[in-house]
Amino acid sequence: AFEQMPLQLTINGKARQLSIEPRVTLLDLLREQLHLTGTKKGCDHGQCGACTVHVDGQRVNSCLTLAMTTEGCAVTTIEGLAEGGESGDAATARLHPMQEAFIKHDGFQCGYCTPGQIMSAVACIREGHANSPDEIREYMSGNICRCGAYANIVDAIMDVKQGGAKV
Ligand code: FES
Ligand code: FES
Repeated sequence: AFEQMPLQLTINGKARQLSIEPRVTLLDLLREQLHLTGTKKGCDHGQCGACTVHVDGQRVNSCLTLAMTTEGCAVTTIEGLAEGGESGDAATARLHPMQEAFIKHDGFQCGYCTPGQIMSAVACIREGHANSPDEIREYMSGNICRCGAYANIVDAIMDVKQGGAKV
């Protein structure tokens, strides 16, 4: 057995006091310990973006982030992006504008990359890196889609950006 360490952080707006193994990644903490399985494990070594979450508002690959390094931070996952989404009550959850745009523009096929794409897309707009399709392609290049939904993903992001919705 490995030594357990205390970790305090906020996940999707909820304060958590956890006990974790020091070597555990943020991705494994979310998926295995907290059962927040919306965040996906694609490559587990920083090359696909399926595991993208926000830490203090910045996008990170959670597979490359040791959970210990998020002490005191605010983590947001795809479950927390929809308003009221973490309750798991689909009837009362309101989708985030980026989630709505992905649906409207068919920004996914199998959906495996989609949570990471959406978390990255929100960050891309917040960073001011969504001013043209070329810029979006460049700043979304860390998110791989094996189904090749790229054109529709760019359309969805452009739509949200141009619509001026608060992301
Ligand atoms: Fe983290 Fe692929 S699972 S980048
Ligand atoms: Fe299948 Fe992107 S929708 S990998």
